[in-house]
Amino acid sequence: MTTSSITVERRGTVALLTFARPDQLNAMSGAMVEEIVAAIANTERDDTARALVLRGAGGNFMAGADIKAYAQQSAEAFRDFQESAGRIYGALESLAKPVIAAIEGYALGGGFEIALSADLIVAHPDAKLGLPEVKLGLVPGGGGTQRLARKLGPNRAAELLMTGRFASAQEMANCGVVNRIAEDTLGEALALAEQMARHPAGALADLKRLNLAAWQTGLGAGLDAERDAVCALFLTGDGMQRIRDFVARSERKKTEGTKA
Ligand code: COA
Repeated sequence: MTTSSITVERRGTVALLTFARPDQLNAMSGAMVEEIVAAIANTERDDTARALVLRGAGGNFMAGADIKAYAQQSAEAFRDFQESAGRIYGALESLAKPVIAAIEGYALGGGFEIALSADLIVAHPDAKLGLPEVKLGLVPGGGGTQRLARKLGPNRAAELLMTGRFASAQEMANCGVVNRIAEDTLGEALALAEQMARHPAGALADLKRLNLAAWQTGLGAGLDAERDAVCALFLTGDGMQRIRDFVARSERKKTEGTKA
């Protein structure tokens, strides 16, 4: 699918969404928000798409919300944009499939907030990540103050938020926010996505939900949800078949060993 500001293509079982306003460093316009939300919904509906990888065209992930559009907006339009863009971050977390952000160049403001809403981040060694809204006299509006503090810890988040400085991929990897650093950023992200996509969809969906619960809810609620999930998966044909396959393989090895 090609629209004005994003492209969506398939790489095997992985859906690849590309932010495509490279001359504006993929700054997020109102039209782009609608296209991204629709693309995530399509990925949810498409059972053959088992994971989602996000990247930007032209060597940058995304330099945040479209500041030029901000300059034209009334207070009401600005609020509408914040609410509208908020659907992206929620939709990425609710998508019952792994989401990986493949970051080259800048991932700033809403771009970093999108990456923080993904399950994993793969970054180029030269990538720059940050929430520079303070330089505009603003605060992040897409969950950045909340997700960054939870993922990075409040003190390190405070430093990035209050200085507005850009962090390197290595700094973010040292803090655990970036999973992997790779020259071939997209290749590494796609390989990781494919590795995940091979596993049963139900187990992956539950793992994503439970992983989010681990940092978004209390321990008790998370442990209850985990127990319910493992018991429900035990009953699925897929789960039972794989357990029987494991036992059959073990018995076969013993039988073959006896004969030898
Ligand atoms: N909104 C709108 N346009 C943006 C943009 C944004 N968030 N970020 C970059 N652009 C545009 C620039 O205005 C420029 O367009 P122009 O050629 O029409 O002037 C083009 O993208 C290239 O950016 P430029 O600033 O010339 O590149 P640079 O390499 O000198 O600097 C950045 C790169 C990322 C440091 C700088 O563009 C920047 O600070 N962007 C804003 C980041 C930000 O504050 N994001 C949070 C928004 S709430």
